[in-house]
Amino acid sequence: MKKLGALVPIALVLIVPAAIWGSYAMAADAYQMQQAYEKQAGQTANSQRGQVFFTKTHGGDWSCATCHTAKPTVTGKHTITGRPIDPLAPSFNKERFSSERQTEKWFRRNCKDVLQRECTAIEKADVIAFLRTF
Ligand code: HEC
Repeated sequence: MKKLGALVPIALVLIVPAAIWGSYAMAADAYQMQQAYEKQAGQTANSQRGQVFFTKTHGGDWSCATCHTAKPTVTGKHTITGRPIDPLAPSFNKERFSSERQTEKWFRRNCKDVLQRECTAIEKADVIAFLRTF
């Protein structure tokens, strides 16, 4: 047991910097996230395809634009709660695509609402490419 106790500070010395490094690696910008999704998909994003994807419906009543508007530079409005949603275009909102966790969470939720499934990596890359055109 004594030996284990001695391992704790060693573990801390190794783990803490790794965790800090990890959080830096996670912090991203829109382009880095687009590239990561492109890599996952093995395909290059297309902003026009992203625009079509964003503005059309996918079998349900809602499109992405229902809440975010078709103009991602303006404040959207949640179609149910009426709550304002800050612009999605990263050049109009610095918070966008700065946290992988946040982005993944909202893609998951929003895609399920609109497509009744999760978005694929290339769909996510296309949407980001579209949002980066502003
Ligand atoms: C029912 C309303 C609604 C619909 C439909 C919707 N969203 Fe959202 N979306 C939200 C809300 C609410 C947030 C979180 C609030 C915020 O970030 O300002 C959000 C956040 C996001 C984010 C922010 C991620 C980040 O990193 O900040 C992205 C990207 C996004 N939505 C994409 C989409 C896409 C793509 C679709 C279509 C498949 C879509 N949304 C459809 C309501 C919606």
